[in-house]
Amino acid sequence: MENKMEWWKQTSIYQIYPWSFQDSNGDGIGDLPGILGRLDEIQELGVETIWFSPFYRSPGEDFGYDISDYTAIDPRFGTMADCDKLIKEIHKRKMKIVLDMVMNHTSDKHPWFLESKSSKENPKRDFYIWRKGSKKKPNNWISMVGTSGWNYDETTDESYYSNFLSFQPDLNYRNPKVKKTMFGVLDFWLSKGVDGFRLDIFNSIYKDESFRDNPSSLRFFPTPDNHDEAFFQKKLYNLNLPESFQFAKEVRKHISKYKQKPFLIGEVSGSDSVLKSFLGEKADGLSLVFQFELIHFKYQAKFFKDLLEKNEKEFPTPLTPTYVLGNHDQRRFIDRLGGDVKKAKILSAFQFLARGIPVVYYGDEIGRKEGRISNFFGKDPIAKMNRFVPLFLSNLLEIYINRDNCRLPMLWDETDGAGFSKGKPWLPVGKFKPSESVKVQKTVEDSLWNHYRQLFHLRKSSRILKEGSIKTKTTNHVDLLCFERILGKKVVTVFLNFGENQIEELLPKGSQLLYQFGGVEVKGERIYLKEHSGFVFET
Ligand code: NOJ
Repeated sequence: MENKMEWWKQTSIYQIYPWSFQDSNGDGIGDLPGILGRLDEIQELGVETIWFSPFYRSPGEDFGYDISDYTAIDPRFGTMADCDKLIKEIHKRKMKIVLDMVMNHTSDKHPWFLESKSSKENPKRDFYIWRKGSKKKPNNWISMVGTSGWNYDETTDESYYSNFLSFQPDLNYRNPKVKKTMFGVLDFWLSKGVDGFRLDIFNSIYKDESFRDNPSSLRFFPTPDNHDEAFFQKKLYNLNLPESFQFAKEVRKHISKYKQKPFLIGEVSGSDSVLKSFLGEKADGLSLVFQFELIHFKYQAKFFKDLLEKNEKEFPTPLTPTYVLGNHDQRRFIDRLGGDVKKAKILSAFQFLARGIPVVYYGDEIGRKEGRISNFFGKDPIAKMNRFVPLFLSNLLEIYINRDNCRLPMLWDETDGAGFSKGKPWLPVGKFKPSESVKVQKTVEDSLWNHYRQLFHLRKSSRILKEGSIKTKTTNHVDLLCFERILGKKVVTVFLNFGENQIEELLPKGSQLLYQFGGVEVKGERIYLKEHSGFVFET
């Protein structure tokens, strides 16, 4: 049987935050030569696609999500020659590379913005969104960080709009020149051979043409999967506009002429129907969108069964769900599990064995823990904005303010700098046990790193797991999640025990074990799954 499914519907994604992965020159900041030196290990882990958070030229006020040159490498990270080498070496290892593309906004230090703000007559004026209005804001729009999106600028006595932080002015996609320029940026990278883009806050691309006020709402706190009702406002006119859904199709069409068959994965948020609008009615919009339900999981079998069923109902083939346990904006999932590695194994197994794309944040494969940097001392601009909010309070309210804490350096070995840097790391490595490092975990058969390695490789080698449909099964145990992956006559069955007690199940005759973890015993036709264990077999 020929595999006709697009490659990106079968891949697994590993996110690298370049600042924190591997420093090679001792300046305490990760860099491209550092990453190059770790590619063999990433390949050994079994990663198929690497997504890089931005390494373009940037003032670094939002650590790269404030770009000042889309086609240059920031000197902190290396040179264009390093980047070309990175693309080549990744491909040589049969992996794919995805770049982060911040289409919504630039840095306020970008030459386009400097020109734009210099005068109303400047040809770049309409690259951004300018309106009259100083003390009285042009309208009531609140940005995604909870402040007014309007920023007054004295030079021309007008305000520009930013849907994120004020130093990140939004580009004006109603200006055809902006579209053309940004398509040119995509072309630049696609011609270099990159395999796709992660599109930053793509839900924010278009704003209402007539700048209508947003209606009010009773909700205050946004959640990772819902920004469209927050800060007492329903963001009808500054997020998720139909024009943005349409634009998703334009971008997809634009990139699809490239021979590497690149894909787009969008950072968008909202209800399933909003997410589906970004994917297009004919699956002709964004290729994938991040689905953030796992960011606030409940550790119980029912939650995961419901999620699978919901995703099959809402995102059936040819759509492909994604399973995201963390990223550079969210509390690390191991901390959300109270540091419990056994439970982390269950969640990662779920992520890799379900139908969909697992997205793994660097360090999750070793159970890298959160830092405890207070909001006051945070480098993250969101922490700076909220520096007087005590960490315990933001933790209690489950709002994630200081993103430094999920961005700590990777733990490669047991040395002081954890093998990350010989200099002073830009964020502290923090206290850790040698057993938390990659080096030690590689030598321990049942370590989390080895578990992830098995999962990456299992998916890679199993067409059933990559292409197969999925069916949940009802069992007699509340703590047991059971589902099947089916391709033709072949079936892979997955048992995951979320409970504290041993569970007994029947093993069909002729079953072939694919993977087990956490303590499973097979006695004849019976299997005994210890607490937080998993068993995967093919029939
Ligand atoms: C979402 C990114 O994930 C986040 O890190 C960044 O601060 C904002 N977009 C602004 O680009």
